[in-house]
Amino acid sequence: MDFERLRRNWENLGRHDPMWAILTAPGTEGGKWDEAAFFRSGDEYGEWLRAWLAQHGIVVPGGDALDFGCGIGRITQALAAMFPRVVGVDISAPMVELARKKNRHGERVQYVCNTRPDLSAFADGSFAFTHTAIVLQHMRAEYALGYLREFLRLLRPGGIAFFQIPTAELVPGAAPMAPAIEPADERHMEMHVTPKADVLAAIGGGGGEVVREEEDRWAGLYWQSFHFAVRKRLARTVPLGER
Ligand SMILES: C[S@@+](CC[C@H](N)C(=O)[O-])C[C@H]1O[C@@H](n2cnc3c(N)ncnc32)[C@H](O)[C@@H]1O
Repeated sequence: MDFERLRRNWENLGRHDPMWAILTAPGTEGGKWDEAAFFRSGDEYGEWLRAWLAQHGIVVPGGDALDFGCGIGRITQALAAMFPRVVGVDISAPMVELARKKNRHGERVQYVCNTRPDLSAFADGSFAFTHTAIVLQHMRAEYALGYLREFLRLLRPGGIAFFQIPTAELVPGAAPMAPAIEPADERHMEMHVTPKADVLAAIGGGGGEVVREEEDRWAGLYWQSFHFAVRKRLARTVPLGER
């Protein structure tokens, strides 16, 4: 799927049934998500993330956070409990519009619609933490890898990129996954994988080092998926003799 088509699909999904497009839980299609339960799932995720980072001794330096593919802010809002300022970015204008309406944290949370295959709207080193979950799986690997490199560029040295990404299709032909929506109506949710070797190469090339990686148990029989915590390396110190 080309990038413009990806944007149109998420624009339409965001306009039609945003909460279900974000979390396709059984019985929630057609505006049937209970909004409080939807946002509670984000708070629970935030508590899990905080505990996971602490459990593995992953310390995030002070600074702001970026939530990439924020949808209507389900996780962005939860990140506001952990960071002084959070920026949610999404390709879908209706998602961003709704996220702004549902914001509970005033100016500490900002939402930006970004329709580019890069994050050039943000300066190098402007975040201490970048986060993305259930987003990179919906785009071709070339785009996912481009955004991974961008996360590393946006991090200050010592900052942490947390991301979830499917790396292999366990049942050939299982993709495209998901909802019984015809591609033709432009509300299509494609499913893609990005080979793990390419993910690791993008991390290394972008100046990152994997602090922790774990397989996602929820990914099921069809997909292999991982979540990674990656630290942006501190500037290389050059021994005196090599200068
Ligand atoms: C399944 S939803 C997940 C939303 C959010 N991460 C959550 O868990 O609540 C995927 C989101 O990614 C967004 N998205 C897809 N491709 C994107 C891109 N290239 N740049 C920014 N957002 C993107 C979609 O518009 C959608 O809101």
